[in-house]
Amino acid sequence: MWGGRFASGPDAIMEEINASIGFDQRLYKHDIAGSIAHANMLAAAGILTVEDKDAIIKGLETVRDEIAQGGFTFSRALEDIHMNVESRLKELIGEPAGRLHTARSRNDQVATDFRLYVRECIDMLVAQVETLQGVLVDRAETEAATVMPGFTHLQSAQPVTFGHHLLAYVEMFSRDRGRLLDARARLNESPLGSAALAGTSFPIDREMTAKELGFDRPTANSLDAVSDRDFILETLAAASICAMHLSRFSEELVIWSSAQFAFISLSDKFSTGSSIMPQKRNPDAAELIRAKVGRIFGAFTSLLMVMKGLPLAYSKDMQEDKEVAFDALDTLSLSLAAMTGMVSDLAVNREKMAAAAGAGFSTATDLADWLVRAANVPFRDAHHITGRAVAAAEAKGCGLEGLTIEDLKAIDERITSAVHKVLGVDNSVKSRTSYGGTAPDNVRKQVALWRERLGA
Ligand code: ARG
Repeated sequence: MWGGRFASGPDAIMEEINASIGFDQRLYKHDIAGSIAHANMLAAAGILTVEDKDAIIKGLETVRDEIAQGGFTFSRALEDIHMNVESRLKELIGEPAGRLHTARSRNDQVATDFRLYVRECIDMLVAQVETLQGVLVDRAETEAATVMPGFTHLQSAQPVTFGHHLLAYVEMFSRDRGRLLDARARLNESPLGSAALAGTSFPIDREMTAKELGFDRPTANSLDAVSDRDFILETLAAASICAMHLSRFSEELVIWSSAQFAFISLSDKFSTGSSIMPQKRNPDAAELIRAKVGRIFGAFTSLLMVMKGLPLAYSKDMQEDKEVAFDALDTLSLSLAAMTGMVSDLAVNREKMAAAAGAGFSTATDLADWLVRAANVPFRDAHHITGRAVAAAEAKGCGLEGLTIEDLKAIDERITSAVHKVLGVDNSVKSRTSYGGTAPDNVRKQVALWRERLGA
């Protein structure tokens, strides 16, 4: 492509380090869409004849079909997707192919292609996040009144409802969806026509190409446009946070599905066995999601590292944006799909959860709150009295609800038998009706709100 200036071809090692066709071929549709928009615009601006434009577009469509059908031979000597497409176009239509590259460069071309690609990924990921939210909302509804232990420090703290726990993830994934859409909004400007770095002397119409490619507007500064990779960094940052949420949830699924907890069991479809221990059922999908987030965080830091020292405008360093981004976005998509599958299939062991919910004096706060409410005891004193009740129950080898009214009165005169109502886990969760609290009625209200928001 630049034979005029060069006497010899590249060394084999040079070709190997330089070529991106091995991975950027997945941009072929976006590259061809960008070229078609560019050709249409060049013709409208009188820079290209209508006959040449028609030949170019027909040729590009043929190239697209050839690649789609797997009949295309990519050449490493042609470096990247842009030159592979253009070279094949030349074979197909001859001279007019050479006119397509007027008023553009591979620098604005690749920036355009990659924005189109990432935009498509965002749309797909947002849809996947919504599907996962839908599954979580459905399960939250059936488990609205299922009591489980709520933890802090992974120590039993207070009883909560499983539905409330699941809706916590719906909130997290909703923020993830918002972050992806925020990234999309800033991404959606067209670099095409920024050319190599300085713009062009041809009378191009950047509004026209922006519109044809579904961008909101053209980018305003050509130097920025060809050297900006914020759009992928932002997407990877949003992807990283989403992956972090998936990983935390995975960790919980691993814990809950252990024999010691046995709160849930994952379906056969999402478990694996052991080649030596016949009794085993392993939560491999959850473990792999937990592990794969490393690749996504890695992609984000890797691209930050690539970008941080680059002067304006384009440098070849920026070709390193693609492999990590492709891998990270593929990985997030697969992880979301696996999580959705696991959640829709898992079986809940309500008895186990309820039994665990009552363990560890989890309703102690309810007793203290009762003392405040029914006997007008200051909370600090109520905390102390309840501590003594916990000690008494521990000595007796029972839970708080196992203490008789005589046991309790011996600790504090003001306690009456009405207290027994608040010592059970079901009453405990039912009483947590403050906005955002765990009560089954709150969960049902939130489920209804989410159904509306998700349109499901
Ligand atoms: N394959 C290149 C990339 O991905 C395309 C842009 C090449 N531009 C250049 N000036 N060599 O970044």
